[in-house]
Amino acid sequence: MKRRSIVRLPKAHLHLHLEGSARPSTIKELAELEGMPDVEQTFSNLPEFVQVYAKAAAVIKRPESLKRICRELVEDEAAQGVWYTEPMGVPQYLGNQHPFRGAQIRLKEFDTDGAWAIMQEGFAEGTRATGTEVGLMMGINRGFGVDGTVEAARFAARNKDNGIVAFGIAGDERIPPEPFAPACHIAREAGLLVVPHAGEAMGPESVWAAIKSTFPHRIAHGVRAVEDPFLLSYLSDHQITCDVAPTSNLLLGVAQDIELHQLPKLMDAGVPITLNTDDQLFFGALICDEYRLVRDTFNLTDGQLADFARVSARASGAPEHVKQRILKGIDAWLESEPDE
Ligand code: ADE
Ligand code: ZN
Repeated sequence: MKRRSIVRLPKAHLHLHLEGSARPSTIKELAELEGMPDVEQTFSNLPEFVQVYAKAAAVIKRPESLKRICRELVEDEAAQGVWYTEPMGVPQYLGNQHPFRGAQIRLKEFDTDGAWAIMQEGFAEGTRATGTEVGLMMGINRGFGVDGTVEAARFAARNKDNGIVAFGIAGDERIPPEPFAPACHIAREAGLLVVPHAGEAMGPESVWAAIKSTFPHRIAHGVRAVEDPFLLSYLSDHQITCDVAPTSNLLLGVAQDIELHQLPKLMDAGVPITLNTDDQLFFGALICDEYRLVRDTFNLTDGQLADFARVSARASGAPEHVKQRILKGIDAWLESEPDE
């Protein structure tokens, strides 16, 4: 049976980490430039992965390296039919004067303000070349502690109409979300979307904790919510979107097998779902691969794929006109002839 091309399906991509979305060839080149070892690929769970991630992020030291990563990210998203992308950038990885302690990363040439200006240039170059729009999710990493997270939220709030659309929490999920609630509160009050990681390495209790302390608009992952039927109903009733990343889940041991992935249970419960790559640098799958994987595993129709794409537009921090453009594009895709 012929299907519609997934590359042609207009999509928003909402759960991807800036450094973790870099091209492997670029990270290799930057590591050589800085005299650092190439990125490791040895991890089998989230705590191990977070360590590997920090080392890869450390090769982006110079303004031109950061700008390049940002420009290439937009180019790569555009090539996958992503019309709007919402990468997470964590100031602890980006600046040299951030107030965070414990960052085991050598100093870089820029502070957080400087980093954001450079990133905006890189994103703008990518957008000019491709038409794909960007909204930044400013992130904090649980492993770096609470100090400075309120400042990060204030930074995001100040830049709400200057390219930052969301505030996220990533890192080792064994560290609970409650201490980060004040930062999330500032972000929410400023009109930013609040998007904690939860229900990935840890079970439903981590999703409840994120809900009760941060009042999220979306949850990054959330897949382990399927272990608690009441939580599933809650997510469905409140239409809290889960930004699911299937290949990441497989490689970090969150799902044992793709056939056993939590996606169908989330779908059956009526939870709004988006599909995402999380960290394609490490996990290898691009966004169209993720759509293809779930389509082929669970025998999904093009209508169901279009629903994921619609949720990705609606739940995003994109301006309304961008959302409408994507939604129209999705309708046109469904009306088009199957071609693949
Ligand atoms: N940082 C980068 N990728 C992450 C993930 N999947 N979970 C938590 N923190 C992350
Ligand atoms: Zn993530």
